[in-house]
Amino acid sequence: MKKIGILTSGGDCAGLNAAVRSIFYRANDKYNLEVFGILEGTVGLMNRPLSYIKLDYNTFSGNLLRQGGTFLGTTNKGNPFKFPMPDGSFKDRTDEIIAGYNELELDGLIVIGGDGSMKILKDIADKGNMNIVAIPKTIDNDVGATENSIGFHTAVNEAANALDNLQFTAASHKRTMILEVMGRDAGHIALNAGIAGGADVILIPEINYSIDGIINKLKKMNNYGINHSLIIVAEAVKQEDGNSSMVKFADGEVRLGGIGTYIAHKIMEKSPAECRVTTLGHVQRGAPPTTQDRILASAFGVHAVDLIAQKKFDRMVAWSDRKVVDFPILKGIETYKKVELEDSLVKTALALGIYLGEVN
Ligand code: F6P
Repeated sequence: MKKIGILTSGGDCAGLNAAVRSIFYRANDKYNLEVFGILEGTVGLMNRPLSYIKLDYNTFSGNLLRQGGTFLGTTNKGNPFKFPMPDGSFKDRTDEIIAGYNELELDGLIVIGGDGSMKILKDIADKGNMNIVAIPKTIDNDVGATENSIGFHTAVNEAANALDNLQFTAASHKRTMILEVMGRDAGHIALNAGIAGGADVILIPEINYSIDGIINKLKKMNNYGINHSLIIVAEAVKQEDGNSSMVKFADGEVRLGGIGTYIAHKIMEKSPAECRVTTLGHVQRGAPPTTQDRILASAFGVHAVDLIAQKKFDRMVAWSDRKVVDFPILKGIETYKKVELEDSLVKTALALGIYLGEVN
C-alpha cells in the first residue's frame, strides 16, 4: 500500500471536509500513505489530464474541519454508466474512471457518498478491480445500515435554528409559519428538527395528513389562547391528490419543492390563519458541520483507512450502537431507512401533542 485516493460523490453536505481531513491524517501518520483528493467526484478520474490534488498537512492547516460543503467538489449529475455528453447522447465512461484509477497507481479509493453513489462506485470497482471502501453521507439519513450518516445532524440543526427564528416572528404577527425542509424520500430531518425546534405540526412523507387535521390542531391551540404556530414540512410530502410539488429549472433539472406553499394556501382557504412560508433549501447542506458531524466524520475516516490498510475492501463503514462498524457495501445499502410508525421519535412527537398526520 502506497497511494490512496478520496472522492466525494453526490450532493454535498456538512462534514465532508472533516472526513477527508481524518482520512489524510490517519493514512499519512499511521500508514505512511500518499493521499490524493480526486476533484468533482468520479469526473476527476474521467478528465484527462486527471483532476486531483495531492493532500498534505498544509491542505488542512486552515478551516477545513469547520467548513460545510466539500473542498474537493462533487457532482450529483450523470451516472458514469450513462454519462450525459455535450451533444445530448449518453456514454458509458466507467472505463475512463478505471483507467484514471490505474494511471494514478492507486492501491485503494475511499468513496464518500449516499446510497446511489455507493452502488455506482461498487459496480465500477467490481468491473475494474478497484479497491474501494465507502463512507455514508447524506443529510436525508436514509442509508439503512448506519444510524447516522455524515451531514444529517447539521441539517437538523439548521432546520431547528430556523424554527427558533421563526418562532419570534410568528408570535409577533400571530402567524402560522411554515418551514419546508429537505429530505428526498424520508422525513428524518423534519421529524428531528420539528421536535427540537418546537413545531406544532410536523408533516413527513411516511404519514398521511389532512388539511382539516392541521386546522383542527391550530384551532385547539387557539382555544388555549395560542394564536401563532410553527409547521415543518418535508419537501417529499405529497399534495392531497397524491402529486408531489416539483420545481423545474431552466436547465431541465427537476427537484422537489413547493409543498410548503401548497399547505399554506390550503390552510388559508379553509381557516382564518395567516401563513407565511420559508424554504430552507441548501442552507442545510452548506452550513458549518456541527460537533456531532465533525466527530462522526472523523471516526468514519479513521476506520475507513484502517480497512484499506488491512486490505478489507468493498466495505461500508457505519455507526451502530455507539461505535463504528463495517459491512459489505451492498449489505450496507440494501435497506432504505424511512421513518417508521414504531420509531421512538414518532411516539415522542405524538406525546408532545404535535400533529403528525392521521395516526393514532
Ligand atoms: O439527497 C440530498 C438532497 O439534499 C435532498 O434532500 C434534496 O432533495 C436534493 O438532494 C437536492 O438536490 P440538488 O442539490 O441537486 O438540488
